[in-house]
Amino acid sequence: MDTSSEFSSRSRSTMEFLRRTVVYLRPYKWAAAGNIILAFFTIGFYFVFPYVTQYIIDTVIGGRKMDLLLPAALCLLGTFLLCEFCNALRIIVNTHFGQNVIFDMRRDVYARLQRLPVHFFDHRASGDLMTRVIDDVASVHRVLVDGVERTATTFLSIIVILIILLFKNVTLTMLALIPLAILIAGTLWYTLTAHRRYRKQREAIGAMNALLMDNLQGVRQIKSFGRQNHEDERFRERADGLRHSTLSVMKVWAAYSPAMTFAGSLGMVLVLWVGGPMVVDGTMTLGGLVGFIFYLTLFYQPIGRLDGLNQMLQSARAASDRVFDILDAADEQQGWDRIAPLKTPVRGEVRYDRVNFSYNGSGRTLKDISLHARPGEMIALVGPTGSGKSTLVNLLPAFYEAASGRIFIDSQDIAGVSLESLRSRISVVSQEAFLFNGTVRENILYGRLDATGDQMLAASRAANCHEFIMSLPGGYDSRVGERGVKLSVGEKQRISIARALLKDAPILILDEATASVDTVTERLIQEALSRLMANRTSFVIAHRLSTIRNAHQILVMHHGEIVERGNHEELLDRGGVYARLCLIRDMEEDDKGGVQKRKAPYTTDL
Ligand SMILES: Nc1ncnc2c1ncn2[C@@H]1O[C@H](COP(=O)(O)OP(=O)(O)OP(=O)(O)O)[C@@H](O)[C@H]1O
Ligand SMILES: [Mg+2]
Repeated sequence: MDTSSEFSSRSRSTMEFLRRTVVYLRPYKWAAAGNIILAFFTIGFYFVFPYVTQYIIDTVIGGRKMDLLLPAALCLLGTFLLCEFCNALRIIVNTHFGQNVIFDMRRDVYARLQRLPVHFFDHRASGDLMTRVIDDVASVHRVLVDGVERTATTFLSIIVILIILLFKNVTLTMLALIPLAILIAGTLWYTLTAHRRYRKQREAIGAMNALLMDNLQGVRQIKSFGRQNHEDERFRERADGLRHSTLSVMKVWAAYSPAMTFAGSLGMVLVLWVGGPMVVDGTMTLGGLVGFIFYLTLFYQPIGRLDGLNQMLQSARAASDRVFDILDAADEQQGWDRIAPLKTPVRGEVRYDRVNFSYNGSGRTLKDISLHARPGEMIALVGPTGSGKSTLVNLLPAFYEAASGRIFIDSQDIAGVSLESLRSRISVVSQEAFLFNGTVRENILYGRLDATGDQMLAASRAANCHEFIMSLPGGYDSRVGERGVKLSVGEKQRISIARALLKDAPILILDEATASVDTVTERLIQEALSRLMANRTSFVIAHRLSTIRNAHQILVMHHGEIVERGNHEELLDRGGVYARLCLIRDMEEDDKGGVQKRKAPYTTDL
């Protein structure tokens, strides 16, 4: 399993991590302060316990003043009550504040994710990105909310108790500090080595979720190929990766954490060893020693907590690398001067001027593409599969950026046009119809959220989907399922055409929009479209010649180049590639007795 490149992220230092995450605390500084203050109170009340205990042992029991026992016990009870009350308040403040921080972070990460260029998603697994938005963000938020509180309370407790201990007995305190050196060395070692392990663990979670998401979407393929066992094995591998990485984190933790606690106990033993004789020779009272030991427990407790804090920090740091990878990725606008809106009204003249493009930087998917679509023209693109037709049209709404050359809409270079303005003027029906998991109505209205009911009906009639929608049990309120699984491909295509028509943009891109509907339905859609396309510039990619016969220009593509151009008659007269394709198609139609075969891709050797 090679998951390294797909799921990895750039490593950032602890300082960078802290500097950048603390930003999220700023809007809630008062809540953070309140949280810390309440935590101080809670701890402060805990400190009273050893003091009162010492008082009961030495003064009440030792001095045989039993009448003081009740007030002392009540005092202790009151302290505990106050302590837990503060604790309850702290939990409430902490939760509110924590949820606000996580909400802000998730919102930012998601907003950024949506504005990343399409090619970012070409190289990432959706399941891994989901893990980053959900798990990794939660891990980072924990360190901000719990971490800040714990750091503050831990350090304050350590200092306060140290002072109390020094006041009580300097010699014993010095002894108690001996294990501190071991604790510091251990913590340092853990901090320096933990990041790598946590990082592996987070990558393993991402890898497992990515596979899970992929397989849930491909469940029909898994079944039809009978690959359940194969997928069991693949999932087992990923889950095992997670098990191993978690075990490796925990193995080290299992050695480190008890070792640190043991070092603390060492101090306790030393204090008893030296303190015992002190009580016997009268330099210290018994209550004094017991009180000292209680305080000592309270001293080692926060020191022990430092390990947990460190564990939380290192885990969050590894998670934050993955979150910042998203936040730091260049957004679609970056590096381009995309500020001008597209000048309105858009006439719809489109010009490509010597455009070159490649997906990976090397090789050329589009070579020297030049074309000129006058307003209202229909431009058809034909050519073998993989010849670059979809790529060519995807450059117009700037899903990808051309490597060289320029694209103009109404003489305005689109490289300088804001994406929002550009995309609002282009309707796209993509090759793979995608519907959101909602109702039919919601999916069509996605084209224009404020469209009236009549406008929506007009669009769905033009796309010839009104009738089938009405025959669904819930009509326009029927749910389409995830990605529209409850509908046939042709139905999905028609709904996506309706959605695009509702958008009512001056430029229309139809990438195999009617490839999966029958010829009769297609003809009906064509008629409606030709009315609608009359004053729009449209780019139509189709394998059926009937769809493109009436196009003003037909561009024949091959290996990323436009090898022929002209209208149907001109290209037939030329007797080139297009004419050959038509000939083959005519023969196919003859074979079928005039009935067109569905989607027969051009595989002709051009
Ligand atoms: N996201 C992508 N990342 C990398 N390469 C891609 C990507 N999309 C397409 N390609 C490659 O670019 C080339 C052109 O693909 P494109 O989708 O434009 O072809 P097409 O003409 O639309 O084919 P079809 O008729 O099958 O839809 C192909 O070789 C394809 O492998
Ligand atoms: Mg395509």
